[in-house]
Amino acid sequence: MLIVANWKMNPDTAEEAGNIARAIKKNSKNFGKTKVVLCPPFTFLNEVSNIISGSKVSLGAQDVFIGSGLSHTGEISSEILKNLGAKYIIVGHSEMRGNGYTDEIVEKKLLGAVEEGFKVILCVGEKERSEHGEQFEFIKSELHSALSNFPKKLIKNLVIAYEPIWAIGKSEAMKGEEIYEINIFIKRVVSDILKIKDADDIKVLYGGSVTENNAKEITEKGKIDGLLIGRESLKVENFLELIKEI
Ligand code: PGA
Repeated sequence: MLIVANWKMNPDTAEEAGNIARAIKKNSKNFGKTKVVLCPPFTFLNEVSNIISGSKVSLGAQDVFIGSGLSHTGEISSEILKNLGAKYIIVGHSEMRGNGYTDEIVEKKLLGAVEEGFKVILCVGEKERSEHGEQFEFIKSELHSALSNFPKKLIKNLVIAYEPIWAIGKSEAMKGEEIYEINIFIKRVVSDILKIKDADDIKVLYGGSVTENNAKEITEKGKIDGLLIGRESLKVENFLELIKEI
């Protein structure tokens, strides 16, 4: 099971970020087979990296610049992220897509990051559910545009995070049975695109209002490979309880 903590633009200080990371590291001996990845804001990567170094907890970034070896104001390169110890990169989160990241940009970031040796977490998900199942076509088209040129041999470094936008930052998550349906659908589409025979090679996470109260239902009924967690990943006690639950 893979648990990715997406801290977004929280907390406000390096000190708080350090406290959260320290508490998670301290408990990491009890994580068993669960792999935990912390994705703090860029500015706290160094702090968190130093704290979790040598533990089972991994470091991830929330974004990366397209390509490498360039100069670009305001951006963060894959070299910087590598030197900070990041192993994972989230690509195409709906909040970034909402800021103007097109499918084309998402594809470039994804291919650049995976070729640089990162494990990439590609976020997909519909804005709203339609009775006519339009979400399936939408997700399929996001997967096709991001993965059509993806090198099949790097499948082990690809994780798909299904995050229905309507369920992010809300009081309720999607139900486990519905997540299962989409999980199967994503695995089928990705195996078609990349010509992968064993669907177990395709890892799918769910994200959107996951808490310690619904994580078990989501992972069991959704039969997914992990979770992408926003708010609850900053509340240390809840987050540790959630890991214990699953
Ligand atoms: P949430 O955020 O857990 O706060 O809903 C999830 C995400 O946006 O990745």
